[in-house]
Amino acid sequence: MFNPKEFINESIEEIKKQIGNRKAIIALSGGVDSSVAALLTSKAIGDNLTAVFVDTGLMRKGEREEVEKAFKDKLNLIVIDAKDKFLEALKGVKDPEEKRKIIGELFIRIFEEVAKDIGAEVLVQGTIAPDWIETEGKIKSHHNIALPSGMVLEVVEPLRELYKDEVRVLAKELGLPDSIVYRQPFPGPGLAVRVLGEITEEKLNICREANAIVEEEVKKAGLDRELWQYFAAVLDCKATGVKGDEREYNWIVAVRMVKSLDAMTAHVPEIPFDLLKKISKRITSEVPNVARVVFDITDKPPATIEFE
Ligand code: XMP
Repeated sequence: MFNPKEFINESIEEIKKQIGNRKAIIALSGGVDSSVAALLTSKAIGDNLTAVFVDTGLMRKGEREEVEKAFKDKLNLIVIDAKDKFLEALKGVKDPEEKRKIIGELFIRIFEEVAKDIGAEVLVQGTIAPDWIETEGKIKSHHNIALPSGMVLEVVEPLRELYKDEVRVLAKELGLPDSIVYRQPFPGPGLAVRVLGEITEEKLNICREANAIVEEEVKKAGLDRELWQYFAAVLDCKATGVKGDEREYNWIVAVRMVKSLDAMTAHVPEIPFDLLKKISKRITSEVPNVARVVFDITDKPPATIEFE
């Protein structure tokens, strides 16, 4: 049986040994893995750990504030507002893999600047067992990572041997709020892969607001712990709608809800129809410029969980 108190104490000693007096850095996303890795490391080496949260502008509604609130008194946290940089870099880009590449590279550039500024020698990561088991042999437990500028960081992974359920137990033990402990998986490129085609502020805003409504209603209906992921995406095409006496030509929001164990396969469960209708009504009345809401009934395979 996994004993969180024991793990925390042993892990703090181990991290102290691994890092010593050196400066360390971690990219904090607000996901449960990076959150727990950051807190454990901070308990071990205090302010020698800098946690960096990069606000890419592709985050969900209230996400940055949630992370600031949860960690500002617990960690040496730097929040970087890079919204304009990301939007600018993504202007006119439609291809999903191109979007991922641009976001990944810009993220590393920004992260690297902080790493240099603080003189970091160690990179802490929230890697858990399933992240490396599939690539066994490629990722060694003791390894270094070279950043694009040539800066080399030693990688420390305090959660390397754990599985998600154990990380959630630790997160609870460490006093993290349920919004982080049970946070649904969210892709690194964020809403960029849920705004299909070119990312504009208008589509991004629709995606963010519609997603907040989906999350709120799913939680209210008590389905949040049952579903693996539940979210909204904005399609890259418009449709006709009617509001009052006026016809309009506006965006289409797609709602997706899946059950899964490991994201390798996923299925769409039966969702109460009144919940879907409520979500549709709220999105079309509360979010501007949405003509319709559709519900994706495709399992994985053949579809992926994300739309891009
Ligand atoms: P797909 O869409 O491939 O997603 O069925 C499987 C799981 O991975 C997440 N996902 C990503 N995570 N960077 C990430 O960090 C990405 O580019 C990315 N694309 C998909 C997705 O949310 C799901 O949990």
